[in-house]
Amino acid sequence: MDSPTTPLISRRDALIAGAGAAAAAAVSSSAPAAAAQPVPSAAAIPRAKLSLNVNGQARSLELDTRTTLLDALREHLNLTGTKKGCDHGQCGACTVIADGRRINSCLTLAVMHEGAQVTTIEGLGTPQRMHPMQAAFVKHDGYQCGYCTPGQICSAVAVLDEIKQGVPSHVSTDLTARPLLSADELRERMSGNICRCGAYSNIVDAITEVAGSRT
Ligand code: FES
Ligand code: FES
Repeated sequence: MDSPTTPLISRRDALIAGAGAAAAAAVSSSAPAAAAQPVPSAAAIPRAKLSLNVNGQARSLELDTRTTLLDALREHLNLTGTKKGCDHGQCGACTVIADGRRINSCLTLAVMHEGAQVTTIEGLGTPQRMHPMQAAFVKHDGYQCGYCTPGQICSAVAVLDEIKQGVPSHVSTDLTARPLLSADELRERMSGNICRCGAYSNIVDAITEVAGSRT
């Protein structure tokens, strides 16, 4: 007969019973989720044909419709100059120019750009024949590791076009006047391009030089 001080169930038995119950709960809670989300077969994945003009060349693709423009460029066209940083629209490393406007290519689906003219860093210039903005970045040390640099340069080229077209920014004081080529304007307009190496002041110097040579 058990004494009043003898536990009816040992600590070891309690742990085993608890672990068993937890495992059973995990199985029962995961089973419906697995059943609700069957892995689609390759044939079931929606695909679409797409035509782009990339860096002056007509390119045809057939893609999973969920493919971002960034992945289309990097993974399907082997244009790896455009970088994937955050993949969430926060760093600007993936900036390209589509139909004259800079965009974060990680935030847009490739199929949304049927027929678009897309310019990546490879289309701006080559090591032997650099775009003026590329040459200015080299001259002013506008980079260290270089990871953000393709996005910075594509963004900078489009920024100067925005200013030329009179598009105001958040720091433009007169919305009806032509925007100034001030450091404040350039910093504000480039604020979506993050540089972890902190080359910001040199980047502004490079853009200022190119802007000056254009006016
Ligand atoms: S990778 Fe597109 S914004 Fe960071
Ligand atoms: S140069 Fe390294 S992140 Fe900008």
